[in-house]
Parts: sequence; structure tokens; C-alpha cells
Amino acid sequence: MSFSHLLTDEHKMIQQAARDFAKKEIAPIAAEHDLSGEFPAETIKKMGAMGLMGIEVPEEYGGAGMDTLAYALALIEIAKADAAHAVMMSVNNSLYCHGIVTHGTEEQKQKFVTPSASGEVLGAYSLTETQSGSDSATMRGKAVKDGDEYILNGLKSWVTSGPVASFVVVFMMTDPDKGAKGISAFIVEKGTPGFTAGRKEHKLGIHASPTSELIFENCRVPAANLLGKEGEGFKIAMGVLDVGRIGIACQALGLAEAAYEASVAYVGEREAFGKKIGQFQGTGFKIADMKTRIEAARGLIYDVAMAKTRSKDTGERYTLQASMAKLFASETAMFCTHHAVQIHGGMGYSKELPVERYFRDAKITEIYEGTSEIQRLVISRLETGLR
Ligand code: CAA
Repeated sequence: MSFSHLLTDEHKMIQQAARDFAKKEIAPIAAEHDLSGEFPAETIKKMGAMGLMGIEVPEEYGGAGMDTLAYALALIEIAKADAAHAVMMSVNNSLYCHGIVTHGTEEQKQKFVTPSASGEVLGAYSLTETQSGSDSATMRGKAVKDGDEYILNGLKSWVTSGPVASFVVVFMMTDPDKGAKGISAFIVEKGTPGFTAGRKEHKLGIHASPTSELIFENCRVPAANLLGKEGEGFKIAMGVLDVGRIGIACQALGLAEAAYEASVAYVGEREAFGKKIGQFQGTGFKIADMKTRIEAARGLIYDVAMAKTRSKDTGERYTLQASMAKLFASETAMFCTHHAVQIHGGMGYSKELPVERYFRDAKITEIYEGTSEIQRLVISRLETGLR
């Protein structure tokens, strides 16, 4: 399907720049970092210098000042080379920068967005706790006001870039009796006494993207670091996740495309029973189903990207489109990477080719930033009005 009529010269330029960078700088190191689990500090810094870590952030705060479609196009290209780089790019752009640009004070934007949008440092987002993942309003972490500070206590988990981020937007209960309406958001700087990164997770995939717990023990944060107003945290968290889900959809589409392209090349080369394996209908139909889902996912992503750009003027919510794009793209990533492994046979299971990495990396897209079950819940509630 051709969406090229939707792309401006600027869109094509950032897409090409991200594609070239991903091929030249990321693809050659992806397997090595997947094996070692080492954080790719150098390439992330270079992505910042190219403007990829704050694509939609206004230029006055160190960003590239482009639209959501530009962000999506660039992110898909990065994800095609390595999903771990892609999630760090997504979280920094969406869960971190977007939240502060949208809800922060002028001082907060200057201090906390500028260094991160320009790629000097990474930002993180911390909502989840061990006992509260999908049901995030049941968090136990607390923040208590004390003069012109808040004292934060709690254990957060599954934080993308947790061990390497310089700043984190963290959600804590300020009024537990009010449930979701008692949650507030804070920006916390690395090095603040009482704030440490805890256990690093050992995961199935995206090894180069470090994920950890964050520990808050009587951590004093200036009241000036409250993001939005007290009690607005849950809505901020959900609104920001709408944007995060666009990013994960792009990560998933990049993975699906990488698996698809590898498969098309392989079925045209590999022979069995006197034929190219792509000539067998069982294989050809897999290719057809992969391509069809990829283009459908792209359509949903472009649609939500344009809705988000429009929302700056219209204020429209794009929750439904974001959930549909994330749901469909992540299931497409699983579908395509699963078929890619099968098409490649033993070679698909071997670390000699990146196909097995695509397969392992794809699974998380159905889980983080809202599982597929949560996306279905969001979509069905919005469509039926029932809960
Ligand atoms: N935008 C703005 N406001 C929103 C919103 C959105 N997308 N979604 C909900 N709200 C508002 C509602 O309007 C409501 O406000 P009112 O009370 O004023 O009407 C309020 O928030 C509460 O909404 P709900 O009653 O619908 O909330 P709920 O408790 O039933 O939860 C949910 C809804 C969809 C299940 C939600 O909790 C959810 O999305 N859960 C999944 C959380 C998630 O994605 N976690 C992943 C964390 S990040 C991560 O993965 C780690 C990482 O580093 C990448």
C-alpha cells in the first residue's frame, strides 16, 4: 500500500536519515549488544545529535520540532535495525519528553526536556510496581508533602532505561483514599539522595535496553518538580501512554518489516525439492499474510500519527487509534517474526541470523505500555461505553 502521498519532503528526509543511520551504525552492533546486554551509549548519543531523541519537542527545548508522522517514520527505521534502540528512543520521546512538554512549567521544560531531547541524557517513565501493572491505579508508592518538598517512598519496577536515565517521571500516591484521583507525577533527578536504581531485569529480548527497579527511600524532591497538579498524575500517565503506544506500534512494525524482508530474501534463495521454497504455496501464503498485516498496521500507525498532530489544534483524544495501532502492530510483529523463524527453519533458530532476535524482541511489544488485553479493554470500553 502506498502512503507516499502523505509524506512531505521533510518526512522523507528524516525517514531516509534514520534508515541510513540504522543500517550503518545500529545494525552492525545489534547482535553484539543483544548478546552482551551492554547499553549502546554511543549510538544513543549519536541519535540525539541527529534530533531523533526529541523529534516532536519544540526547537526551543532542544528538539527537532517535527510532527508525529516524522517521529513514526524515523522510529520504524530504527526498530528495523534494533528494537532495543527503538524502545529507548520511544520512551525518551514520548513517555518522558512529551509528558513534560505537555504538562510541565517553563522551568521544568528548560531544565528537564532540553538535555534529554538533544540526546545528552536519557529520560525514563515509572508507573508500574510489582503488584500493580495493568491496574496501575493501585500503586503503593507514596509521596508526602513536607514544606516545599515531597518525600517519596516506594519500589517501582520494569522501568525502561532505569539504570541509565538521568531523569525520571515517577507516579506516586499523594492521597491514597482517592484512588486514581490521588496519584501525582514528579520529576526526579539521578543522584537525588534516597533515589537509586535497583535490580536489573534479565529479559527474553531487547537486551541492549536496560530495564530495572527504581527505589525511593525517603527521597526528598522539591515541590517545584511536581508535574501538573496534585491528583492529576493518573490522567497524565494515561494521556502520555497514548503517545507511548504509538511508539511501541512503530517498534513492532519495524520488527515485522525486518522479519518480512529477511523472509522474502530467503524464500527466493533457498531451494528444496527442486524449487525455491517461495514457490511452495505454504510458504508463499505466509509471505502474503505477513505483507497484508504489515500494511494494515502501517495504516493504523499513520492514522494515529495524524490524529495526534491534529490534536494540537483540535484537542481531540486519540486513545482509540493509539490502542488499535499498538494492538494490531504488536500482534503483527509476533505473527511475522514467528513465521520468519519457521520459514528460515534451523537458520531461523540460529544466532547466525537476526531472525531469532526479532522473534524474542517482538514478544514484549504485546506486553509493555499496556498488554494486548488492556488495549482490547480500552477499545471495547470506548466503543460500547460499557465497563
Ligand atoms: N487520557 C486521558 N485521561 C484518561 C485516559 C487517557 N488515555 N484514560 C483514562 N483517563 C482518565 C479517565 O477519563 C478517568 O477520568 P475521570 O475519573 O475524570 O472520568 C480516569 O482517567 C480514570 O480512568 P478509568 O476509570 O478508565 O481507569 P481504570 O482504573 O479503569 O484504568 C486502564 C484504565 C485502561 C486499565 C488503565 O489503567 C491502563 O491503561 N492500564 C495499563 C497501564 C500500562 O499501560 N502500564 C504500562 C506502564 S509503562 C511500561 O510499560 C514500562 C516502560 O518503561 C515502557
